[in-house]
Amino acid sequence: MPKWMESAVFYEIYPQSFYDANGDGIGDLEGIIQKLGFIKDLGCNALWINPCFDSPFRDAGYDVRDYKKVAPRYGTNEDLKQLFTDAHKQGIKVLLDLVPGHTSEEHPWFQESQKSEPNEYSNRYIWTDQWWKKVEGFGYVAGEAERESVYLINFFKCQPALNYGFFKIAEPWQLPMDHPDCIATMNAIMDVMRFWLDAGCDGFRVDMAFSLVKNDDEKKTGTSALWRTVREMLDRDYPEAALVSEWGFPELSIPAGFHADFLLHSEGEGYRSLTRNYTLDCRHTIVGEDKSFFKKDGKGDITVFLDEYRKHYEVCKENGGCIALISCNHDTIRPSFTLSPRELAVFYGFLFTMPGTPFLYYGDEIGMRYLNLPTKEGGYFRTGSRTPMQWNTGKNLGFSKAPAEKLYLPVDASPDAPTVEAQEKESASLLNTVKTLLRLRRENADLQAQPNLEILYAKKEAFPLIYCRGSLAIAVNPADSPVSVDISPLLSSPARNIYMIGNCQLEKGWCKMEAQSFGVWKM
Ligand code: NOJ
Repeated sequence: MPKWMESAVFYEIYPQSFYDANGDGIGDLEGIIQKLGFIKDLGCNALWINPCFDSPFRDAGYDVRDYKKVAPRYGTNEDLKQLFTDAHKQGIKVLLDLVPGHTSEEHPWFQESQKSEPNEYSNRYIWTDQWWKKVEGFGYVAGEAERESVYLINFFKCQPALNYGFFKIAEPWQLPMDHPDCIATMNAIMDVMRFWLDAGCDGFRVDMAFSLVKNDDEKKTGTSALWRTVREMLDRDYPEAALVSEWGFPELSIPAGFHADFLLHSEGEGYRSLTRNYTLDCRHTIVGEDKSFFKKDGKGDITVFLDEYRKHYEVCKENGGCIALISCNHDTIRPSFTLSPRELAVFYGFLFTMPGTPFLYYGDEIGMRYLNLPTKEGGYFRTGSRTPMQWNTGKNLGFSKAPAEKLYLPVDASPDAPTVEAQEKESASLLNTVKTLLRLRRENADLQAQPNLEILYAKKEAFPLIYCRGSLAIAVNPADSPVSVDISPLLSSPARNIYMIGNCQLEKGWCKMEAQSFGVWKM
C-alpha cells in the first residue's frame, strides 16, 4: 500500500452537486478547487471524484463516451490538472473514478464495434453469433446494432459490456481471456490509467471491479488475474498510485491486487447491519423494523458486522491491503435518513477509529438529508443522496448563483436544512465533531489504517462494543440506555480518556457508558 494511504481519510465528491463556480446550475472542477481549503480544514486528505468524463449522462457519468476528456459541463482537462496541482499543494491526493466494465453506447469504440464490417473494435464488446437469441444469465440488447448480433450489457441498457473474455467458455461466441482482442481491451484501459496518472492523479476508485471476466468462477480467478496485471504495472511505473475497488468483498479483491476495497450493501449483511438494516418500499419509505446497530432503539447486533468483517480483515492483514468503510456513497441512502445527529456522531466515532481507509460522502459531515426526488440521470432512489451541498443560508444554500429552476437538483428546502456555515459556529455541531474525530485520528498513528484491531467486548444483541487499536481503547454505546460491563479480565491497565461523546468511564476494570456515548482512552 502506498505510504500515504496509511493516514488517508477520503472525501467523496459527486461533482454535479458540490460547488458551482461558474453559475450554470451544476457543480464543476473549479468549484472543487475553490473548496479544497474546506476539505483540508475538515481533516480529509484525499478525494474520490465520481466520473467527470465526457458522457451522455444516462447513468450520471458511469456511461463514459471519452475516457480521456473531461466533460465540458465540469471544465477542461487543464482544469482537472489544475485540481491535481492545487490539491497536492494542500496535501490532498485525488482519485478518479475508473469505469472499466462498460462504456456508453455512444463511445466511439462501440460505434465501430456495432458495424457489420469487421474492424479493430469488433470484439471490444461482447457479441453473440446471431441477430436474435435469448442469452441466458446476462443482460443483453437485441435489435439495435448494424451487425447481425446481440450485445451484452454490464448495468443499464446504455452500458455495453467491454470484452475481457470468458473464464469458462460455454458458447462459440465467447472468447477466452487470452484472445488478443480481450488482451487489447485490458491494454486500452491501462492506457487510460496511464493517461490520468501522467496528468497527476493519485489513483483510481474502480467501478464494478469484480465484473470484468464473464463466467468467472466463485473466487473470481479470471478477473483477479487481470487486476494483478494492473497492479504489477502500477507497482513498477506508479508505485505511489492507489487502487480502490468497488467489489464489496475484500477477501477476494485485496489478493487480486487492490489496496483497499469497500464494504457495501451489495455483499452480505455486515455493512448494512451498521446503519441500514431496513427495507424500503418503492416510495422510499421504510417497511418494518430498523434493526441497525447505530439506531438508539438498541435492536441491532454488532456481531453480524464483526463476523463478516473479521474474515475480510484477516485476509487484508495477510496481503497488506485494507477495508474501506463509508459513511454513505452516491448509491446509498444518506445515514441521516434514519439516524439523528447524535446517532450519527456515535457512528462517526466508530467509522473514524476503525482500521483501513474511511470514506466520508460530501454532506454527511453536516448530516445532509436524503430527499425524496424523481430520478435524475439514472439515479432512481439514489437521486435523493445526490443533492447540492449546503454551504450557507444564502441563495441555493450557497451552492450556485443560478436561478433555482436551473439547478442540477433542487436544494433541501426545509427551513432547518443543515449548512456548513451554521455548524462551523456551533461548537458541538456534527461538523465540529467530525473535525475533532479526524484530528484525533491524524494525531494518533494507532488510529490510522494499520491492522492493529483487537475486539475486547462484542456480544450478540448487546452493548457496548469495545475495541483496542494499539495503545488506545475505544468504546461505543449507540443504545439509548446506559450500560456498564466488567472488563477487568480483559483490560487491566489504567486508561486516560482523550475523547468522549456523552459521558463514559473506563476505570477499575469497568466500562460505564451513558446512553448514546462514545469514548477513546489512552492506556
Ligand atoms: C456502480 C456505481 O457506483 C453506480 O453509480 C453505477 O450506476 C454502476 N456502478 C454502473 O457503473
